[in-house]
Amino acid sequence: MGFLLNPIFIVALAATLYLEKPMDLEQIVADARHAFAQAADAVSLENEKARFLGKAGQLTELLKALGRLDAETRKREGVQINLAKQQVEEMLRARREQLADKLMQQRLAAEAMDVTLPGRGASKGSLHPVMQTWERVEQIFRSIGFDLAEGPEIETDWYNFTALNSPLNHPARSMQDTFYIDARDEKDQLLLLRTHTSPMQVRYARMNQPPIRVIAAGRTYRVDSDATHSPMFNQVEGLWIDENISFADLKGVYTEFLRRFFERDDLQVRFRPSYFPFTEPSAEIDMLFEQGKNAGKWLEISGAGQVHPNVIRNMGFAPERYTGFAFGSGLERLTMLRYGVQDLRHFFEGDVRFLQQFA
Ligand code: DAH
Repeated sequence: MGFLLNPIFIVALAATLYLEKPMDLEQIVADARHAFAQAADAVSLENEKARFLGKAGQLTELLKALGRLDAETRKREGVQINLAKQQVEEMLRARREQLADKLMQQRLAAEAMDVTLPGRGASKGSLHPVMQTWERVEQIFRSIGFDLAEGPEIETDWYNFTALNSPLNHPARSMQDTFYIDARDEKDQLLLLRTHTSPMQVRYARMNQPPIRVIAAGRTYRVDSDATHSPMFNQVEGLWIDENISFADLKGVYTEFLRRFFERDDLQVRFRPSYFPFTEPSAEIDMLFEQGKNAGKWLEISGAGQVHPNVIRNMGFAPERYTGFAFGSGLERLTMLRYGVQDLRHFFEGDVRFLQQFA
């Protein structure tokens, strides 16, 4: 029996047993079913597939081995193997689909959005607080019979100064240093960025006949920059010209305006003597603060006065017949006093945290 231990014999026997082993197709199909079910994702599934259907897969090997069989057996076994192969392929297809579904479900769960959440909402813009003041001032003056006008920001030296009784080299011009334009208009007039809205008094009066009742708001420019001054700021000019319009009318109209603007019927207003070249007499208008940080303080809010006879003449009217008053107020200043804003520069920085408070 020694030959049984001969290695050559063992190899030959093993080979014979393997080749002659009855094909346990049911076992292979059962193995594949189990392996596919165990594969938790597409990659492992494709690896398992190789074990059965790949180039060296169990079923592939069986098909290859058919060649060595006689025609009769080959035909019979071939049918069996192909049936098993179809079964395994079908199981593979089904499992692939299952895994793809599972992946999709996982993605849907991960990327789920809760459509019941309220939307974030579009952020709404709003008017700048100074523009809100502008509109409010216009609305109040319109309601007491004033027209609205607008003038150019690039103004001639004549309208900005000369027509307003400040001839060239007049010392009062230095109160309002400005930016000059390196060009002249068609009439060879010196051009500048207007330092105030007052030039609109003469511009408007030259195009209209008394009675004139108008306000004109807009941007103005000066060489000035600190917590209460900015190189660009907004003013509103008011003008009333007719027969018999006096300083008392100015007091009545402006006090009424302030009371409506600040929504305080008992607001205290005072007219303090001052100087402007284009008015005589001239006044600063102050209002009394009764609450908050400025309680008890009079704060200046506007320049005003009876229009100077020279200015009435430059408007084209006879000062013997027509008189009137004018005022010029800062829109930023009105806004600061209404809301208690401490620094003018907030208005120009565009910081939403500041602006939102006025939305
Ligand atoms: N234009 C002057 C300024 O900017 C303000 C002013 C004062 C306007 C008196 C007026 C006025 O109409 O009568 O400082």
